[in-house]
This record gives sequence, structure tokens and C-alpha cells, in this order.
Amino acid sequence: MARYALDVNGQTRSIDVHDPQEPLLYVLRNDLRLTGAKYGCGLGQCGACTVIIDGEAVRSCLTPISAAKGKITTIEGLGTPQKPHAVQAAFIEEQAAQCGYCTNGMVMTTAAFLDKTKAPSSGQVRDALAANVCRCGAHDRIVKAALRAASAK
Ligand code: FES
Repeated sequence: MARYALDVNGQTRSIDVHDPQEPLLYVLRNDLRLTGAKYGCGLGQCGACTVIIDGEAVRSCLTPISAAKGKITTIEGLGTPQKPHAVQAAFIEEQAAQCGYCTNGMVMTTAAFLDKTKAPSSGQVRDALAANVCRCGAHDRIVKAALRAASAK
């Protein structure tokens, strides 16, 4: 058992974990009750578990708790229902979800991308989100939402 101090959504959260290889995703969901990051594939292939660590979109299913250093932002820390982040607001405006399972990962990946790319083309948005999977086929609305968020900044 080891104790880890995680910087999550602006708060320090201490957590006791048995296995240093335990994925950050499990700790977020099961121990900290932050269920916005979703378990999709568990293999780094779908993006449903994406969080932001120090500005980078990271697959929390592949991040061992022992390597989860830096400022971690989950979708719960991105915006609020009263004051959504620009990307969240744009996803709502464009109704960029169908079942919604991939949405949080899409939002987090988009937010990290737009922090680095101010006026992206549609192609750049598509490239940035190419590794996030949506089985419903909402990709066109997701790209529109990302472009709307970019123009709102
Ligand atoms: Fe992490 Fe699919 S659950 S990439």
C-alpha cells in the first residue's frame, strides 16, 4: 500500500493504492468518484477515458497511478453546469452527442487541442480527434462543435 497525493481539479486528493500500476482511471472513478472519464476499451484505443494532465490529453486507462504527476483535470473540473467551458457549451449548441459515451473524452481532447491551436482548420480538428472513437457516428457534429468552440475563444 502506498499513498499518493493527486492534484485533481485544483484540489489535492490523498489516496491509498495497493498496486502502483493501478490505472488512474480506476482511481478517479472508484476512489475519487469522478465518473466523467469513461472506461471504453481499457487499451488506449478509444479515448473515452481522456483527462488532461499539465495541458496534455492523456489516456487515464494507460496511466499508472504512480505516474500520474502534475495537474490533473477531469471533465468535472473543466466547467460547471452554470458556467460550462467553451468546448462544453459548443458541444451542447451543436448537440454533438448521440449515446454520449465518448463525449467526455471528445471534450477533453478538444479542450487540450484548442489550448494549443487557436484557429484550427476542419482538417486539424479531425486529425486531433482521429484517435477518439464514436460508434454512433456523431463525428460531423463533434467537429462542428470543436470549430465553434475555437471561434468563441
Ligand atoms: Fe482508455 Fe479506451 S478506455 S482509451
